[in-house]
Amino acid sequence: MKPILVSGIQPTGKLHLGNYLGALKNFVELQNSGKYECYFFVADLHSLTEDYNPKEKQKQVLNVALDFLAAGIDPKKSVVFIQSHIPAHSEFTWILNTITPFGDLGRMTQFKNKFQVIFEYFEKKHKKEEREYSDQISNDLAENLLGKTNNVGLFDYPVLMAADILLYDAAFVPIGDDQLQHLELTRTLARKFNTMFGETLIEPKPLLTNVPRLMSLYDPTKKMSKSQPEGCIFIDDSPATIREKIKRAMTDSHKTIAYDPKNRPGLSNLVLIYSAMSGVAIDKVIEQSADKTYSEFKEELAKIVIKSLAPFQAKKKKLSVDMKRVSSALASGNKIANSVASKKLMEIKKKIGLV
Ligand code: TRP
Repeated sequence: MKPILVSGIQPTGKLHLGNYLGALKNFVELQNSGKYECYFFVADLHSLTEDYNPKEKQKQVLNVALDFLAAGIDPKKSVVFIQSHIPAHSEFTWILNTITPFGDLGRMTQFKNKFQVIFEYFEKKHKKEEREYSDQISNDLAENLLGKTNNVGLFDYPVLMAADILLYDAAFVPIGDDQLQHLELTRTLARKFNTMFGETLIEPKPLLTNVPRLMSLYDPTKKMSKSQPEGCIFIDDSPATIREKIKRAMTDSHKTIAYDPKNRPGLSNLVLIYSAMSGVAIDKVIEQSADKTYSEFKEELAKIVIKSLAPFQAKKKKLSVDMKRVSSALASGNKIANSVASKKLMEIKKKIGLV
């Protein structure tokens, strides 16, 4: 039997070039390598921990499912499913909660980043320095304490992720390095469960791919992110929008095309995008572009990006008018996932004495 591979994407908005290269394209390559039995899912339960509009949720979930299929995930080769349609994920999360040390979750960087303002407040309060608080921090704090950011789901997020992975006996999980800590927790929980109740869960290994770190076109010192749309190329952007965003991308006052991320971050980011999207090595890109001006290079880059997204965009358009096909692919994926996950959950429940 082939080793099992599991990964998910949260439906929290449009995907950008970084997500495309880091997740989608990579998933397709892993699928087509024929080396794994692949499960890819839309992590809609995870996405509930962030602000959202209930009226938009279904659309966002289907949009990620469409992204999977349009990018080349083939429901005949991989199991594609929606997390919330598999009740075992939530049920197993609860069971895992009861063996998860509070402190382990408190150490998760992603959680700490989101809760930083609240943490700082309590720390200062503890030291009786709360009067030193600036108005800005107080405002942020009020927003955080009252708003969606302050929810237990955000704290418990990695445990749900562990359940996602362990239910399928995954040997490998392709993830970005921001998720490594969560995978380490998954391994810790598997080990702990096995020690307490006997060999049941498999410790998964991360599959870190060599994903280029794309920076914002608007501010190349920051990571490309949907929170700054001007500097972010979305995979659904029209050719005109892509051209415009690249044209406005920040560069520098030099004249030659080069790759020097430290001193010339804007231009280097464009060279990196060029290389990542075309598959041409960075030094080759520079060699080819030696006699180009910045504006010529940008035009060339826009062409490359548009061209490499074209098959994906065309397929997505075609699929989106054939939603029956998409729903039926998801229905059969959900069915397979349900049968695998509920069987594993039964084994787990037996081990802990619930059945
Ligand atoms: N937390 C992941 C992310 O934001 C998404 C995710 C949820 C995931 N469950 C998973 C990834 C299980 C891999 C395996 O990128």
